[in-house]
Amino acid sequence: MTVCEGDCYIAVILDFVDGTEGCTKMAQKLLLQGLGILALGVLLNPTMAAAPQSALNLMPVPANVQAGTGSLRVDAAFSVALTGHTEPRLDRSVERFLHQLALQTALPISTKLATNPKATLVIQTEHASKEIQEVGEDESYVLEVTATGAKLTAPTPLGTMHGLQTFLQLVNVAPDGFAAPTVTIQDKPRFPWRGLMIDSARHFTTLDDLKRNIDGMEAVKMNVFHWHLSENQGFRAESKKFPKLHELGSDNLYYTQDEMRDLIAYARDRGIRVVPEFDMPGHSTAWFVGHPELASGKGPYGIERRWGIFDPAMDPTNEKVYKFLDELIGEMARIFPDHFFHIGGDEVNGKEWDANPRIQAFMKEHSIKNNEALQAYFSGRVQKLVTKHGKIVIGWDEVLVPGVPKDIVIQSWRGQTSLALAAKQGYRGILSNGYYLDLGWPAARHYAVDPMSGDATNLSPEEKERILGGESCMWSEYVNPENMDSRIWPRNAAIAERFWSPQNVTDVASMYARMDFISARLEWLGLTHKSYSRRMLHRIAGPASPLELTALRTLTDVVEPVKDYTREQTAPAEPTSLTPLNRVVDAIPLESDAGRHFGELVDQFLAASCRDTIAEARLRAQFMLWRDNDANLQPLAQRSFLVKEVAATSQDLSALGAAGLAALDQIAKGQPASDSWRAQQTAFVTQAMKPKAQLLLIPAPAVQKLIEAASAGGACSTAK
Ligand code: ACM
Repeated sequence: MTVCEGDCYIAVILDFVDGTEGCTKMAQKLLLQGLGILALGVLLNPTMAAAPQSALNLMPVPANVQAGTGSLRVDAAFSVALTGHTEPRLDRSVERFLHQLALQTALPISTKLATNPKATLVIQTEHASKEIQEVGEDESYVLEVTATGAKLTAPTPLGTMHGLQTFLQLVNVAPDGFAAPTVTIQDKPRFPWRGLMIDSARHFTTLDDLKRNIDGMEAVKMNVFHWHLSENQGFRAESKKFPKLHELGSDNLYYTQDEMRDLIAYARDRGIRVVPEFDMPGHSTAWFVGHPELASGKGPYGIERRWGIFDPAMDPTNEKVYKFLDELIGEMARIFPDHFFHIGGDEVNGKEWDANPRIQAFMKEHSIKNNEALQAYFSGRVQKLVTKHGKIVIGWDEVLVPGVPKDIVIQSWRGQTSLALAAKQGYRGILSNGYYLDLGWPAARHYAVDPMSGDATNLSPEEKERILGGESCMWSEYVNPENMDSRIWPRNAAIAERFWSPQNVTDVASMYARMDFISARLEWLGLTHKSYSRRMLHRIAGPASPLELTALRTLTDVVEPVKDYTREQTAPAEPTSLTPLNRVVDAIPLESDAGRHFGELVDQFLAASCRDTIAEARLRAQFMLWRDNDANLQPLAQRSFLVKEVAATSQDLSALGAAGLAALDQIAKGQPASDSWRAQQTAFVTQAMKPKAQLLLIPAPAVQKLIEAASAGGACSTAK
C-alpha cells in the first residue's frame, strides 16, 4: 500500500484494487477524469462553451479567453522586458514573478529584468496608477501567448500585476518541458472591491502571517485587505498619542506603526489596498483597559478572554470620547493612506447604556428615543471626524440608519436584503454575508452566493452600480498563525473568483478542479494551508508507527469541524483566547476533499444504477480500509490524549465502513433489503452523524444513500 501525503486517498483505494498504483499515476487519472467532466460540461452546457479557459486551470476565470494551438516553451532562458510606463513597483513585481516561475519549475531562471526588447515576455504598461489606489481604477490587461513569445499589455500597473499572475497559472509541465499554452486573454474584474478581512485582534497574527496571505490574495486577484485591528480581546495598533491603548490592551501583541506602514507598502506592491478597522462603540473592551473614561460602565475593565458579544461600549454622550477619537482617527488616518476608514459599528447590546443614568438623562434631554438612535447619533459624530481627516466611512450594516451621509459604504454581514436596501437608498455597499470563512462552509456554498443575487436582482442598473463587490471574512476565535492559512485557503480562491469572473461562471465541478490545482500552487507562495495539517497531526500523534500515522490520517481526511457557530455550543469547556488550538478539530481543513470525492463516487455509482463495477470496487476498497482502520488507531489513542479524543469518531468510521460493505453486498444480491436490515444499518449511520469531539464524519450521508438504494423501493434494490 502506498502511504500518501496530501489529498490522494483514492490512490490508497486503488492500491487495494490493483496493488500497483500510487499517487502520481492516480493524479494523472484524476486529471483525465477531470478533463472528461469538463469536456462533457462543454457539450451539455452552452454557457461553458464560452469558457474553455476552465481547462486551463485559471482561477479566477478571465473575462475572455481565446485558446490557440501549440505552446510557448518556458526554459531557463525565460526573460521579461518592461516597456512603456515603468516604476520600481513594476520592477519588483516582475522580479517576484520570475522568482515564482523559478520555484514553480525548479529551472534556474534569472530574476533580473531583461534589457533586450526580444525578451520571452514583453510587458507594455501604458501609464501609472493612482498614488493612492482608488475603487474602480482600471485593472484590465491583455495577455497574448504565442509559440514564439508573449505580450502583456495593460493601462496601469494594476492590470500588469494581474496579468503576471495569470501567466504564472498558465505555465505547466508538458511532455517535453515546461510550457504555457498559446492563448489570448482579455481580462478585467467584474467588481472593483474584492476583499479579504482578517481579524488580527481576537488571535494575534504576525506580520509575516499576514504577508503570506496577501501573497495569496495577489495570486487570485483580490485587491482589498481589510484589517480588523481592535476587539474586546485586543487593541493591536500602536498609538503614539494614546500608548495605553496597545500597552495595556494587547498582551504586548500589537503592530508597531512601522510594521503597519511596512504591510501597507507590501500590499500596495501587489495592487492591494489596506482598509483598517477600529470597531466602535461596541467590541471595544480592550480599549477600556487603558482608557476606562471612554466607557459607559463603571469598570474596571480587563482584556476579554471569552468569545461572544459583551456589554462594554463607548459612551456616546461624553464629549471627551469624540475628542479622543478625533486624535486617534487622525493618527491612524495618517498611517493608512486608503480613502476608506472602517469604524465597525456592529453588535452593540446597549446594556451599559441602559444602566447608566447620565446616558439615560442625555437621551431624554435630546429626544433620543432608543439605543438604535443613540448609536446613530454616535455614528454620525464619528463619521464627521473621519471626514475631517479626509476619509470615507465604511461600517457594518448597523451604521445604516436614517440620515447618515450618502458617501458612507455599508458592509453587509447580516444579509443581502440590507445591501439591496442600502443601494436603493443611494448608498454604496459590499457583501460579506455568505462569505464568512469561519463558518466552515464548503467552497461550493460560498461560490453560490453572488453580490447581485437575492434582493439585488431587482435593482435598477444605477442602483446595481452601487454594489462594489464583497469581502470574505476570517474571524479568528479558532484561528491562530498555525492554522490561519488553512482556514482561509483554498476556499477563499472560490470567493475571489466570484468577485472577479463573469457572473455566468458558476460550474461547481470546474471550480473544484481548478481550486485543487491552485491550492497546490499557493503552497509555492509559502502559504501553509496544506502542510500545517501534517505538522499538527504529528504533534497530536507523538511518536507513532507509520501504520498508526496512516490510520490517523485516514480518519482525519474524512472529518470536518462542526459548522456555523456550533463550536461554542459543543465545546467540552468554555473556550477562550487562551485555549490551546491543538486538537484534531483545529488541525484538519474546514472542508474535506476526501469526503467530497467519496460523495461524488457514491453519486456516480448510484447514477449508473449500481452497475458501475469500477466505482463499486473503489467503494468496497474504501469501506474495507475504514472498517479496519480503528484497530490500527486505538493503540495510539492509549498514548495520546489528543488522539483519544477522537477514538469514538474512529469507531464510528469503522461502523460506517461495515455498513457501506453491507449495503454493497445487499445491492449485489439484487434483492431488496428487509426493513429490519435497513433499520439496523441506519442506526450505525445515525450514530456516526452525531458530532463527537466537535467533528463531523463527512461520508455518513453518502453511506446512508447506499443503504436507501439497497432497501425496498430503493434505486438498486432489484436484480441488476
Ligand atoms: C460581525 O460579524 N459582527 C460583523
